[in-house]
Order: sequence, then C-alpha cells, then structure tokens
Amino acid sequence: MLFTPYQLGPITLRNRAIRSAAFENMAYGNAPSQDLYNYHTAVAKGGAGMTTVAYCSVNRSGVSFDGQLYIHEEIKPALKHLTDGIHEHGAKASIQLGHCGNMTHFYTCKCMPVGASSGFNLYSPTIHRALTKEEIKQTVKDFGYAVDFCRECGFDCIEIHAGHGYLISQFLSPYTNRRKDEYGGSLENRMRFMREVLTEVMEHAGDDMAIVVKTNMYDGFKSGLQIDDCITIAKEIEKIGVHALVLTAGFVSKAPFTVMGGAMPIKTLAHYMNPWSFWWLRLALRFVGHLMIPTVPFKELFFLESAKKFRKELKMPLIYVGGIMSRENAETALAAGFDCIQIGHALVKDPDFVNKMQQDEHYHSTCKRSNYCVARMYTLDMKCHECVENLPKYLEKEALKYEEMWYPKNK
Ligand SMILES: Cc1cc2nc3c(=O)[nH]c(=O)nc-3n(C[C@H](O)[C@H](O)[C@H](O)COP(=O)(O)O)c2cc1C
Repeated sequence: MLFTPYQLGPITLRNRAIRSAAFENMAYGNAPSQDLYNYHTAVAKGGAGMTTVAYCSVNRSGVSFDGQLYIHEEIKPALKHLTDGIHEHGAKASIQLGHCGNMTHFYTCKCMPVGASSGFNLYSPTIHRALTKEEIKQTVKDFGYAVDFCRECGFDCIEIHAGHGYLISQFLSPYTNRRKDEYGGSLENRMRFMREVLTEVMEHAGDDMAIVVKTNMYDGFKSGLQIDDCITIAKEIEKIGVHALVLTAGFVSKAPFTVMGGAMPIKTLAHYMNPWSFWWLRLALRFVGHLMIPTVPFKELFFLESAKKFRKELKMPLIYVGGIMSRENAETALAAGFDCIQIGHALVKDPDFVNKMQQDEHYHSTCKRSNYCVARMYTLDMKCHECVENLPKYLEKEALKYEEMWYPKNK
C-alpha cells in the first residue's frame, strides 16, 4: 500500500510517503541555501513521494527565525532551483505556508509581533498586539499571493499551517483569541480567519496546485481546543474543498511536545542559544526548563487513536503524521483508512529512509527520538546528533539519556 501511487487533488505522488514540514533552519538570511537544496534533494532521491519545505511565512511579520523563508521576490530563483532539484529525483515539491503570529520577536520579524489578540508571550518572550481588521484582510491576501508565487517557483503542493499555536491556530483557540469583533467569541467566529484564508488559497490554487491543511486534533492543554471543537473545524475545512488534511496536535507556546512526543533536551537547547541576547532565558532553562517544556511520553504512532476519530467523521482524504518509524507503522496507518503518511524525525535522521522501507518491509528507523534535532533547530541547521562532528560530550550524554528512555537497549 505504501508504495502505490496516490492522486492528491490534481497531482500524482509516486507513493504515499511524504516528508512532513520539519523546520530546517537552513534559509540563512531568510533565503534558500545550498544546505536546504542538499537536504530536500536527498529526501527526493531517498524515495519520498513528496517533500515539504517547512514553515515559510507569507509575509515579513510572520517570521520567527533568521533562518526561515518568507515570501519575497529575491528568493524566487533559488526556490525554482530547489524544486527543479526535487523533481529531477521523481518527487513532488510541497511548501508549508503560514504566519507565526505572536511566536516571534521584534528583532526577528522587524515589527511589533502581532497575533489574534494582544498580550505577552512568555515563550518568545514578547509583548504583541492584535491584528486590525485591515491587517487581517491583507494577511488573507498575502496567503493568496503566496500560492501564485510558489506555483511560479515550481511547487506542486501547498500545505497551510493551521495548527501548533501559530497565527491561524491562535485565531481558532479560545486560549489566544479574546477578540470582541466577528473574529472572536464563538467557535464560528474564531474559524472566520481560517475560512477566509482557505477560501482565498483555493481561489489561487486553480486546477493545478494541490492544497493540504495541517490542523490540530487538540491543543494539548485545558484552556485550549479539545477534540470535539477540532472535529467541527476539520468539517469546516472539508467543506471548503481542500485536497487533504494533515492531523496533528499541540501548541508551541503551551504544549510544545504534544506535537511530536518525547522530551526537550534542555542542555542542548541552552548550549546553542546565543549567549548574549537571551542570557536570562538560558538561565531560566537550566533551572526550570522541564517545567517550562514538559515531557510528553513518546510511542510509535502516537496520534493514531485520536486520528481515527477524525477518520470516522470525515470523508475527505486524510494524511497521518506522528511516530512513523518503520514500514510496519506506515502500513498500519494506511490500513486504518489514512490516504498518505508524513514522516518527520526518521527523515531528519536519514533522507534515505523511504528507500530503505521499500527494500526491506521490516525496516525500522535508526532515529531513537532524543529530539536533539529539535533543540538544535532553534539556533542552528536541523541535524541529527549522530551527524555532528565533535559533539560536546555532555550533549552526547544527554541525547543518549533520552534515547534510552524511548528505546531502551535491554528491551
Ligand atoms: C526538527 C523538527 C522541526 C519541526 N518543524 C515543524 C514545522 O516547521 N512545521 C510543522 O508543522 N511541524 C514541524 N515539526 C513537526 C513534524 O512535522 C511532525 O508533525 C512531528 O514531528 C511528528 O512526526 P514524526 O513523529 O514523524 O516526527 C517539526 C519536527 C521536527 C522534528
């Protein structure tokens, strides 16, 4: 099943394995780099049906990393080169489009951070203001413009990021949306921004671009969205007619490890952080890091039971993501009624993972979920600790400690 082609809206994937949007932090100076090219072409060569370039902002105010893409004219030739490289190896090219909302800082987005409502975000950490109605309309247009831009760059598919506590998710969640106008209050109102974005996106998609939406099944904390409301949101997305839904969960400013399970290697995170700009945050991390970023037990296929509830309620194509570490995992998800699967960690560890699953039906990823790649990605390019030369001993020890937690050697 995994290695049968799949018709995703107007495009055909050679198989059902998609590299999920996992932020590479390789767009140094906000432009595509040779590293980004090398990584995604390696994933394409490694057999994936489609690879997703992560976390590109539709405008400047939505940028939360210096190594992140945002839509602007100067990057067009390099993105075209990137999609050409992906196509040469027979894979389709997707790009995740979003806006970080309040998950940024003045120094990075070059303006006062904006969100659904005003407030203080402890995780960035920053004060932010609510978008005005005119700015909401402009942001909606920015999403539409970005679709045309990405088509010109050679992308086959767009993934709209509507989860994880970024801007669309900040509008959806009662935790971050305290607006008093027609964009806040009832769930119907909180869905308005998402609906406007997706309607605009579908208009620009025409009949040649595939559109996928990544959305939460739950936010992962008490005052956030729970599963019933998220099913209502998914049904609304279904009505708009996008081609598939990627089911995820978690909220980066409140329940970050709900997204992928496991623990944040705090020493690694603090080690790579710029020592001068965030010295007090490094200090806080050392002492109360695990309270700020709680561990979520990891197991393979960790979202499957929740995702099945969505499968029951929806007719549209669904893409499963979450703890796919082997061919057996992939086939289990597909047999449960999902149309495709997405893979994050296992393709960070090894861009050739899909080929290896094809060659050996019992193949299991060698990634053991230390989440070193995640901690590192906040400051440097995304990489597995086993690919880093001269890794400081204490970071290696930390990675091994977490690996042992999820994949004990004596089991
Ligand atoms: C290093 C790293 C960066 C990530 N960045 C993003 C991102 O930019 N956008 C997103 O939607 N998910 C992001 N994720 C989450 C993954 O796409 C995926 O949903 C999650 O890791 C679960 O899949 P997995 O168990 O196969 O890794 C990231 C994951 C990792 C490991």
